[in-house]
Amino acid sequence: MKLATFLTLFSLSSSALAASASDWRSKSIYQVLTDRFARTDGSTTAKCNPVGKYCGGTYQGIIKQLDYIQNMGFTAIWISPITFQIQTWTPYGEPWHGYWQQDLYKLNSAFGTADDLRALASALHNRGMYLMVDIVVNHNGWNGNASSVDYSVFKPFDNVKYYHSYCNVDYSNDTSIRDCWLGDSNVELVDLRTEDTSVAQEYQIWIEQLVSNYSIDGLRIDTVKHVDTDFWSGFGDAAGVFITGEITNGDPYGLCPYQNYMDSVLNYAMYYAATAAFSSTSGSMSGFVKQLNGMKGQCKDTTVLGSFSENHDQPRFASLTSDMSLAKNIIASTIMGDGIPIIYEGQEQHFSGAQDPYNREAVWLSGYNTDAPLYTFTASANQIRNHALYVDGDWLTYQNWVVYSDSANVAMRKGYDGYQTVTVLTNKGASSSNYTLSVTNTGYVNGTEVVDVLSCEALTAGQSGTLTVPMSQGLPKIYYPVEVLDCSGICGY
Ligand SMILES: *[C@@H]1O[C@H](CO)[C@@H](O)[C@H](O)[C@H]1NC(C)=O
Ligand SMILES: *[C@@H]1O[C@H](CO)[C@@H](O)[C@H](O)[C@H]1NC(C)=O
Ligand SMILES: *[C@@H]1O[C@H](CO)[C@@H](O)[C@H](O)[C@H]1NC(C)=O
Ligand SMILES: *[C@@H]1O[C@H](CO)[C@@H](O)[C@H](O)[C@H]1NC(C)=O
Ligand SMILES: *[C@@H]1O[C@H](CO)[C@@H](O)[C@H](O)[C@H]1NC(C)=O
Repeated sequence: MKLATFLTLFSLSSSALAASASDWRSKSIYQVLTDRFARTDGSTTAKCNPVGKYCGGTYQGIIKQLDYIQNMGFTAIWISPITFQIQTWTPYGEPWHGYWQQDLYKLNSAFGTADDLRALASALHNRGMYLMVDIVVNHNGWNGNASSVDYSVFKPFDNVKYYHSYCNVDYSNDTSIRDCWLGDSNVELVDLRTEDTSVAQEYQIWIEQLVSNYSIDGLRIDTVKHVDTDFWSGFGDAAGVFITGEITNGDPYGLCPYQNYMDSVLNYAMYYAATAAFSSTSGSMSGFVKQLNGMKGQCKDTTVLGSFSENHDQPRFASLTSDMSLAKNIIASTIMGDGIPIIYEGQEQHFSGAQDPYNREAVWLSGYNTDAPLYTFTASANQIRNHALYVDGDWLTYQNWVVYSDSANVAMRKGYDGYQTVTVLTNKGASSSNYTLSVTNTGYVNGTEVVDVLSCEALTAGQSGTLTVPMSQGLPKIYYPVEVLDCSGICGY
């Protein structure tokens, strides 16, 4: 067999294989809210009121904008839940977000057909990218109060026996968190008895089919802490692909134990610490460092956690501060941190919506501007990450080591000798005056030429690998040895 033929066959078969945590570790994810990213008609002017109605985003729309995503360096996307939703108008509008499912075996036709979804999966796979799908197993959606629920509309769980009886979640009580209902009397989230074998087995049958029918490479799971923990191992085995779970808990001791039940969790601990550190020039950098070390100490494997600084449930970073340098620092902390980076659609356009649903703006209204400062910044940060992990696969499993910190600056090293990145972050903000930082313990040998890949400014490591870093305008730095930048296309190398 000719080598080229062999390689083609190999790449075809490998894209059909289930993607594991170690496959995902090298990915970088762009989070798409399907209804709000791109329309089939390619419109950049279609109005979208964040509250209320579907705005018209589709799978075909995403396919047409894959260059926009891939040119920012992303190697995977996460899309909204794909299942059939509440069909009627609710006091909170339509379920364009996808979190009010009613039938597991039908798709939400607002986003396209089954063929459209399969076309999206293959368009991604043709680019060597992965598809992550958001799913909900904790509940179904009901337009109305608890006493009005018609259980027969839910498929396949069409009987009251599959559900917990109504109670409102009391967050101080673990049983209540698992068994009571989220939502409210306008839209109830009817809570499944996931602890029952019959329910768990039905979910296993479903997820195995879903992953296979649509060639899904990974799952993001909603409201994980509201489901009993015994549910996950059978579910994960049936899914057969990488899973990252949503547990809104900023405490490493509360968050990390979930890695015993699934591959990965979204790193809410670093999210809260990074937001506190970078959203103001008086933010706590020591809190950031303490949290980073706390996660390393408590979590099984921080290098497969989902690392993010914005999502559809939290106020956008730009709603907290308009400072562009601070926005760049937090993106650098997300992409160069341990774990799989996730950038939420619109973050690259510096969207500033605050509370849900105002943080769910239509991306098309930006005109998909690839010259936007945070678009090019994100592209640069992803580019060095993609290069560093390509040059040395062990870069990914080396956990960031904070080699310098003070009240406004932190430097962290990732990677073994000769291949290490040194990321320097600050919350001094865009209007700060120039200063230098003396960063030691970089591991660079005396005389090593390094370059800040964000500004393309070179620097030579001094005795004991010390970098004398010229800080200006509150911008972050990402250093990497010039010697291993060859042929990367980064900064002209
Ligand atoms: C629940 O909703 C039904 C149907 O809208 C209504 O008739 C009933 O009064 C409501 N019950 C409560 C307790 O609000
Ligand atoms: C905790 O919540 C469960 C479920 O609602 C309830 O049965 C139990 O009484 C609650 N325990 C306490 C101590 O309130
Ligand atoms: C998967 O596809 C099969 C064959 O078309 C279909 O019978 C089944 O319902 C599908 N399952 C899901 C979860 O989409
Ligand atoms: C570091 O390199 C400089 C310049 O090459 C040299 O002058 C100095 O002696 C070196 N220091 C050590 C400790 O090797
Ligand atoms: C601050 O640093 C920048 C970048 O190195 C440089 O262009 C600028 O001239 C410096 N400003 C002052 C006031 O020294």
